Amino acid sequence: MKIYVPMDSAAKALGADDVAGVLAAEAQKRGLEVEIIRNGTRGMIWLEPLVEIEKDGVRQAYGPIAPTDVGALLDGRVDTHGSVEDIPFFARQTRLTFARCGLTDPLSIADYEAHGGLEGLKRAIAMSQDAIIDEVKLSGLRGRGGAGFPTGIKWDTVRLAHAPQKYIVCNADEGDSGTFADRMIMEGDPFTLIEGMTIAGIGCGATKGYIYIRSEYPDAIAVMSRAVEIARAAGVLGVDILGSGKAFDMEVRTGAGAYVCGEETSLLNSLEGKRGVVRAKPPLPALEGFLGRPTVVNNVISLATVPVIFAKGAEHYASFGLGRSKGTMPIQIAGNVKFGGLFETAFGMPLGELVNTVAGGTATGRPVKAVQVGGPLGAYLHPDQFDTPFGYEEFDGQKALIGHAGIVVFDDSADMLSMARFAMEFCAVESCGKCTPCRIGAVRGVETIDRIAEGDTGAIELLTDLCEVMTDGSLCALGGFTPFPVMSALRHFPEDFAPQKEAAE
Ligand code: NAI
Ligand code: SF4
Repeated sequence: MKIYVPMDSAAKALGADDVAGVLAAEAQKRGLEVEIIRNGTRGMIWLEPLVEIEKDGVRQAYGPIAPTDVGALLDGRVDTHGSVEDIPFFARQTRLTFARCGLTDPLSIADYEAHGGLEGLKRAIAMSQDAIIDEVKLSGLRGRGGAGFPTGIKWDTVRLAHAPQKYIVCNADEGDSGTFADRMIMEGDPFTLIEGMTIAGIGCGATKGYIYIRSEYPDAIAVMSRAVEIARAAGVLGVDILGSGKAFDMEVRTGAGAYVCGEETSLLNSLEGKRGVVRAKPPLPALEGFLGRPTVVNNVISLATVPVIFAKGAEHYASFGLGRSKGTMPIQIAGNVKFGGLFETAFGMPLGELVNTVAGGTATGRPVKAVQVGGPLGAYLHPDQFDTPFGYEEFDGQKALIGHAGIVVFDDSADMLSMARFAMEFCAVESCGKCTPCRIGAVRGVETIDRIAEGDTGAIELLTDLCEVMTDGSLCALGGFTPFPVMSALRHFPEDFAPQKEAAE
């Protein structure tokens, strides 16, 4: 009998290791022949630890399972949710990037290949660099870290640059609150990231790569490090990739835990062993990046999506999505919701459908008041904006951003003035200090919001001016985007900024 227990850190945080331990002991006690496989998570976090028992080739889902449920589970006395694939949250998804996550043993390269792994790399190896870049351009893939810059154009810039050494750097410093897609794929299907980086290396003429992972992700660091060793031993990395004569290798590097090190130039400084301070652009990292050499800096999900593009073809990938937002996006649903987790879907699903149907509305049962999309620098959207399709341009039209596609839901007990204050406070704490609008502006922002809370209505105009200065004058997105949550809170929830609120309390 095969039993799957996730080794993903969300499942572990909810007791998966204990469940696996008790399962092994109980099976031994009963003399049962059980193979326990530690898979990645399926992304339905409210069901974790989600134990899957394979019966007649179908993986039946049971969860959440506590260690004390294991006896009953083995007796067949625990109700199943049915086949994992039939659970509505899962069945509605279009899983391209996350197709293998939760299905396979993350550290078995044989399992990876058995489920379509390395098909993309094998195809890319036989292609010219031009053709590789054209394939990425044709797929319409855009930077999944948040900025949405076309990946193929970035790769082409690096390919065309003249330099003795080029690099592929994977940005795994996933710092946005409410986001976990990078962590989930690194822990659940690490070879797909390795394969994507290798294709990037071959396409751009880079022979060395780095995965920069935040120190807060010890499990992802351990899994990725082991996966790199396994891939190297299997000839997927090294001087003769799969016997092609092409070379690419990579290392895992650990960040020290600063939000701003997710900004690409700050990350490069940190990777070089310097303080994580933002560099002015230009020069772009694509021309002068790691150690001054042309460098592709891509987010985990951008790179992890490359294998499926090559395996199934760019046109297949581009057939999903909406307008210039091609393909799928792993949307991370968190906050006050019934069903939190990772939901990969083609671009275009309206925000309201994601919140009310997919996520099942609020866990408290109270009305939704606001949804923050795109991390701490993302705007708060009002339910009046729920018909906005999930896409880069569509969110831009609402003065919002999809960012790294984390959505955090709040019910009507949320105080939006406090949320705006938190955004300024976050910026003040995380600022690298290089430019004045962010370093000083964020501190003044907190003070100004405190004045509004005390009933000073004149301070609202001051806050608006300050946000304009931060937007126009900041060197990077931390100072430049903090006005998104602040101004959206002010615009959509003016009642929370009204002086009578304080007077009434
Ligand atoms: P950006 O718009 O300055 O650049 C986007 C990317 O395109 C960069 O890699 C840049 O070097 C590259 N690029 C621009 N022009 C190019 C050209 N002509 N040729 C080649 N490459 C070119 O945006 P930035 O500052 O890199 O990222 C901001 C975004 O980061 C925000 O949208 C925000 O949502 C997101 N973000 C994500 C976080 C996360 O945890 N994933 C955390 C904080 C922010
Ligand atoms: Fe540093 Fe803030 Fe300026 Fe970015 S905006 S460079 S984080 S001070």
